[in-house]
Amino acid sequence: MTRIAHDPSGEPNPLRALTLAGLRRRTSMKWRTYPDDVLPLWVAEMDVPLAEPVVRAVTDALALGDTGYPAGTAYAQALAAFAEKRWGWDGLAVERTAIVPDVMLGVVEMVKLVSGPGDPVIVNPPVYPPFFQFLTHLDRRVTEAPLGVDGRLDLDVLEETFRASVAGGGRAAYLLCSPHNPTGTVHTAAELSAVAALADRYGVRVVADEIHAPLVLPGADFVPYLSVPGGERGLSLMSASKAWNLAGLKAALAVAGPEAAADLARMPEEVGHGPSHVGVIAHTAALRDGIPWLDALLAGLDDNRRLLADLLAARLPAIAHRPAEATYLTWLDCRALGLGDDPAAAFLHRGRVALNSGLRFGTGGAGHVRLNLATSPEIVEEAVRRMAAALD
Ligand SMILES: Cc1ncc(COP(=O)(O)O)c(C=O)c1O
Repeated sequence: MTRIAHDPSGEPNPLRALTLAGLRRRTSMKWRTYPDDVLPLWVAEMDVPLAEPVVRAVTDALALGDTGYPAGTAYAQALAAFAEKRWGWDGLAVERTAIVPDVMLGVVEMVKLVSGPGDPVIVNPPVYPPFFQFLTHLDRRVTEAPLGVDGRLDLDVLEETFRASVAGGGRAAYLLCSPHNPTGTVHTAAELSAVAALADRYGVRVVADEIHAPLVLPGADFVPYLSVPGGERGLSLMSASKAWNLAGLKAALAVAGPEAAADLARMPEEVGHGPSHVGVIAHTAALRDGIPWLDALLAGLDDNRRLLADLLAARLPAIAHRPAEATYLTWLDCRALGLGDDPAAAFLHRGRVALNSGLRFGTGGAGHVRLNLATSPEIVEEAVRRMAAALD
């Protein structure tokens, strides 16, 4: 049975706070894309109430009518303090940051700073599907350097891809997902240092999407890309949006390493008009005062990943998976089930449970699904029951 999380902070597990009936009243994508008889464990939204400091900050802003345009550096200051406390990294300099509308639009702006139309941008599939969409829309050539079979960066493949990408003498960028969505892999300091060395050797510019950084689970440690030797030329995107469930309160931060400061300074001033001021207030409150809530969430997610492993072993042993080191997402290898390339379709139509189809995650996605564990243990159990029923 499920171990009930008692975080030392004394905060209750937010994953146990809401009922299915209450969640179904939500109007966001997770809850409104499928009919009510479908259990949704797909898009990266969490079934949690917001951290109390976030609610208070936003409520105060609304009461004050403080709903204008964003100003100041409070968000960056809160992130710098969080980075120091959480990751022991004191290298996040507020003057080398800029607010951006959200992480993906921040990625677009960073890629624009270091490459031009038609240039290659390297990604590590299976990876977050919007990487393909946004980069293609930006007229970049998406170039795959697949993860290894162990779900980790394959440095030999990466080197070969870097070499081929710059062979014609053009510019290339590398969009690193750290931690990695959908496998939940946390890249080690050694792996990231090797990436930085390769980037330097081949003149490839690194843009690191570190949106999942606060969501590292017990047993792993997050290493900021900009903190590793050679990471000084990197650009990173960070945000409170995934860890505190604030996707509807748009804001994110672009962060430059010391040797990329001049690049970030070239970002057009109007990009900073995009984030929501109320979003900035919410994200700042989360990073500054939302750590006990985050710790309770992580304890609950740790329980859920153990619960899922037990349930799959008991009911769906043919599904292979490696418990995620970070994120609330789990990547399930369903190839042995005989459901073809798109098992999510069978789980949806026959089991009435919505997971993400692996097909959209690029090479290595066929036969896989992504499952969102940011929900109650009861919903995780019901999801596995429905997945098993789809095979009957
Ligand atoms: C790796 C990654 N990057 C970016 C995003 C989206 O972030 P935003 O809503 O800030 O663009 C997500 C959302 O799940 C994600 O997983």
